[in-house]
Amino acid sequence: MKIIMLGAPGAGKGTQAQMIADKYGIPHVSTGDIFRENVKNGTELGMEAKKYMDRGALVPDELTVKILLDRVAQDDCKNGYVLDGFPRTIPQAEVLDKAIRELGDQIDYAINVDVPDENIIRRMSGRRACLACGATFHLEHVPPKKEGICDRCGKELVLRDDDKEETVKNRLLVYHEQTQPLIDFYTAQNILKTVDGTVDMKDVFTAITNILG
Ligand code: AP5
Ligand code: MG
Ligand code: ZN
Repeated sequence: MKIIMLGAPGAGKGTQAQMIADKYGIPHVSTGDIFRENVKNGTELGMEAKKYMDRGALVPDELTVKILLDRVAQDDCKNGYVLDGFPRTIPQAEVLDKAIRELGDQIDYAINVDVPDENIIRRMSGRRACLACGATFHLEHVPPKKEGICDRCGKELVLRDDDKEETVKNRLLVYHEQTQPLIDFYTAQNILKTVDGTVDMKDVFTAITNILG
C-alpha cells in the first residue's frame, strides 16, 4: 500500500503517518524528519536544508526529490510506504508519479488531513519532537510519560526551530501557495480522501483506517 499524507503544517500528518505505519507494517517516510536528522548530524545536506527550513520556506525540489526517490528505492519500501511531507509542490508530485509509473505501480491514496489555520498555531507551540526517532508529542494532547523524554527511544524532546509563531505563519503561507494545489492534483486522479483533522487523533485515525480498510 502506497499512501501520501497531505495537510497544512501541524495538521497531524506525522502523528497519523506513524500510526498507519505501525498498523499496516509499512515504513513512515518523512522528508522533514530526514532533513532534521541531517541538520542534527551537521551533514552538508543538513546545512543546506536548514537555510530554508528556519525561514519556513521549502527546500528546493532538486534536492528534495533525489532524497525521497533514494529513500523509497530501499528494500523496506518494497511493499509500500506512507509519505509524510512529500510531495509538497506540483513538480515533486509529477516526478513521484513518473517514478512510480515506471515501476508499473501507483499511489493508492492521498489522505488530506484537514485543519483550519486558526487551530494550527495553537497546536505548534505545544508540540515537542524527538529528533532521534521522529516521534511527536504535545504538552497537552499527547504528553510523554516522562517530561522531556521520548517514549519510543528515550532521547531528549525539543521544540522544533521552525515552530516559532512567525515561522509557522510563513509555513502556512507557503502551504497555501505551493502545496494546497496538490488537493486538486490528486482529486483529478480519484485518490484523494479528506478527513477532519480537528477531532481527537484517535478519531482521525479511525476515519483513516475506514478508508484504508
Ligand atoms: P515537515 O517536517 O514536513 O513539517 P510540516 O509539513 O510543516 O508538518 P509538521 O511536521 O510541522 O506537522 P504534522 O502535520 O506532521 O503534524 P504533527 O503530527 O507533528 O517539514 C519541515 C520543513 O522541511 C518544511 O518547512 C520544509 O522547509 C522542509 N521540507 C520537508 N519536506 C519538504 C518537501 N517535500 N519539499 C520541500 N521542503 C520540504 O502534529 C502537530 C502537533 O499537533 C503535535 O504536537 C501533535 O501531537 C498534535 N496533534 C496531532 N494531531 C492532533 C489532534 N487530532 N488533536 C490535537 N493535537 C494533535
Ligand atoms: Mg511532521
Ligand atoms: Zn525518539
